Amino acid sequence: MKKNIIAPSKTMEDNELDLKLRPQLLKEFVGQEKVKEQLQIFIDAAKKRGEALDHVLFYGPPGLGKTTLAYIVGRELGVNINSTSGPVIERPIDLSAILSHLNKRDVLFIDEVHRLNHIVEEILYPGMEDFKLDIMIGKGPSARSVKLELQPFTLIGATTRAGMITAPLRARFGVLIRVGYYNHGEMRQIVNRSADILGIEIEDEGAVEIAKRSRGTPRIANRLLKRVRDYAEVKADGRIDEDVAQQALEMLEVDRFGLDDMDKLILSTIIEKFGGGPVGLQTISVAVGEESDTIEEVYEPYLVQEGFLERSPRGRIATKRAYECLELRKRSEKQGELW
Ligand SMILES: Nc1ncnc2c1ncn2[C@@H]1O[C@H](COP(=O)(O)OP(=O)(O)O)[C@@H](O)[C@H]1O
Ligand SMILES: [Mg+2]
Repeated sequence: MKKNIIAPSKTMEDNELDLKLRPQLLKEFVGQEKVKEQLQIFIDAAKKRGEALDHVLFYGPPGLGKTTLAYIVGRELGVNINSTSGPVIERPIDLSAILSHLNKRDVLFIDEVHRLNHIVEEILYPGMEDFKLDIMIGKGPSARSVKLELQPFTLIGATTRAGMITAPLRARFGVLIRVGYYNHGEMRQIVNRSADILGIEIEDEGAVEIAKRSRGTPRIANRLLKRVRDYAEVKADGRIDEDVAQQALEMLEVDRFGLDDMDKLILSTIIEKFGGGPVGLQTISVAVGEESDTIEEVYEPYLVQEGFLERSPRGRIATKRAYECLELRKRSEKQGELW
């Protein structure tokens, strides 16, 4: 249960919640101030010229608002948004079917864009660059090449794995935007906003408690908010104050620093197996059994932001705070407390 609730990956239940809670416009989107400022300028400029916006790539860990931003951009541009994902587009013909149906200036959103297969990807290049497609239809002697003119469109790609985007694909995005973890203040605003939409009564201290334990990730905050509300309805009068939030989060076994199991494994590995570091990324990767890209792109940014980990030229170093966290954990495990 613990793993499920704090894991940033998406569940069926999240889909429903996502739809309800997704901000519709840039001004409703909390945090990421630089990102919003940049997007606003590019959107305004494209609208003024009556042209399609440049292709945009959003990258960053799961649950931070990449899909939300893609839809917001489409809405702010006032165009249609067609949505698909990398692994769904299996054949060149699938891609050409999608692209040829786009109207002028429409947005095509491709989630998990790093998972496009290379044949499709190569056909996409001239599509992105010159709004032209060149595809082969049929096989063997009857095969023929067909050229298609497309309407100018905007491709918006999203990925959690920036490192897996090929160089030629990356080069065709005019706007590259990194979406990072939120700080506690922003997370608190997000929790309050979601509570408002869902009609949940919450005190600010209750929102702070949920915000602190959500791993800087709106999707996790929304999920925790829902569970804490259940607790508040059964064990209290439905209102989420600090005490109720704390009790509920203890019951759900949510870590008090908002760390998930892999975060903790990384820190305890550096401390217990490598004397606190410095230790190289590859070594950590082998020791914890997780890909080095994922450690670098998903886990480390949060650990660094929260002051548990430092990156140095000689490798990763566990900070004093990481030691304190590990000590605390051992002590409470000994006392049989929930951690
Ligand atoms: N900046 C934000 N402000 C408010 N809610 C947000 C924000 N970013 C994300 N969310 C919420 O978090 C959920 C997950 O966002 P999503 O765009 O699906 O993340 P990603 O595509 O990066 O995995 C959405 O339902 C949305 O309600
Ligand atoms: Mg998404």
